[in-house]
Amino acid sequence: MPTPSFERLFGRPAAVTASAPGRVNLIGEHTDYNGGYVLPTAIPQRTQVELARRDDDRVRAASANVGSAVFEYRLGAEQRRSRWTDYVQGVTWALGHEGFRLGGVDLRVESRVPLGSGLSSSAALLVALLRAFRDAFALDLADVPLARLAKRAENDFVGAPVGIMDQMACTLAGDRQALFLDTRSLDYTIVALPPGIDLVIVNSGIAHNHAKGDYRTRRAECERAAEALGVAQLRDLEPSDLPRVMALPEPLGRRARHVVTEDERVLAAVRAIKAGDVENLGQLFYASHDSMRDDYEVSIPEIDLLVDLGRADPDIHGARLTGGGFGGSVVLLARPGAAAAAAARLSAEYGRRTGQRATVLVPDGAGR
Ligand code: GLA
Repeated sequence: MPTPSFERLFGRPAAVTASAPGRVNLIGEHTDYNGGYVLPTAIPQRTQVELARRDDDRVRAASANVGSAVFEYRLGAEQRRSRWTDYVQGVTWALGHEGFRLGGVDLRVESRVPLGSGLSSSAALLVALLRAFRDAFALDLADVPLARLAKRAENDFVGAPVGIMDQMACTLAGDRQALFLDTRSLDYTIVALPPGIDLVIVNSGIAHNHAKGDYRTRRAECERAAEALGVAQLRDLEPSDLPRVMALPEPLGRRARHVVTEDERVLAAVRAIKAGDVENLGQLFYASHDSMRDDYEVSIPEIDLLVDLGRADPDIHGARLTGGGFGGSVVLLARPGAAAAAAARLSAEYGRRTGQRATVLVPDGAGR
């Protein structure tokens, strides 16, 4: 069923159109809330927001992804309802708290970033919304503060205790351009992906939700480990600290070991990409996955299967769970030119063995 256009919904054309991509994290998982390093890149799928100002203080919002219903509220009267519209309300709430003067708007969202897939549908929506408001009201809001505001909306209004990686990635990463980010200082560099690196992204079809318990539990475990080791954040530890890390009570030692070794793997991955060393990058992907599965315990059997199918495939150099975990997607490194065929093979075999329907997100259009 075709979903209604902006004009159909609101009786006039949109004045502003803005968008933001989803992201795939290449490596550096569960390091952002520990002050560590991450290396995400943008995916082709984007979330688009069309918007027009109103003369009053009402916000009317519709999403092509959920039908033709229009949700309405007054600026300053935002209230969490545990629905997608919390992201819209979170944005006007955060902008208001930051002292930006807004008026009412009509807006329509359309997302091609699959929800709950570990590819940052939430951050893409928040960043696209903030860009649309920035354009419509000529807000003086640079990219990094915009990413921080998106995080504030998600943490303090939506109630998901996520780190800063996704908002920064959806704001700053580009096509074949990874964002090497120090999540403590927010210093970053853009690392171009050389031609030998061909990504595959397969969504397991099993959705996750970070507002739920497991992500929160991991964060709390990291905080306890840092406190027990006398550091402000796990980022402050070095590989030479691993003996005392592993002396912590279970499971804190393994949780902290994941973070310490993952930070090292991000640094090694940046070196491998710059050297065009795909083999080494692939090995780092597998090592990262093993650490997430065994030490951090955020994988699930279906995701492990996708990674293991990659290990057995001669056209795949590396594979790992990407994003927060407990479902979501796998990112794989394919031999140049082999990505689409490998993705189709893997997802078909996955379907046969699990009965779940995997979707190939990259290469875009493969596997449809
Ligand atoms: C989710 C969060 C991020 C990050 C990842 C794990 O995607 O939104 O902030 O913590 O999980 O790396």
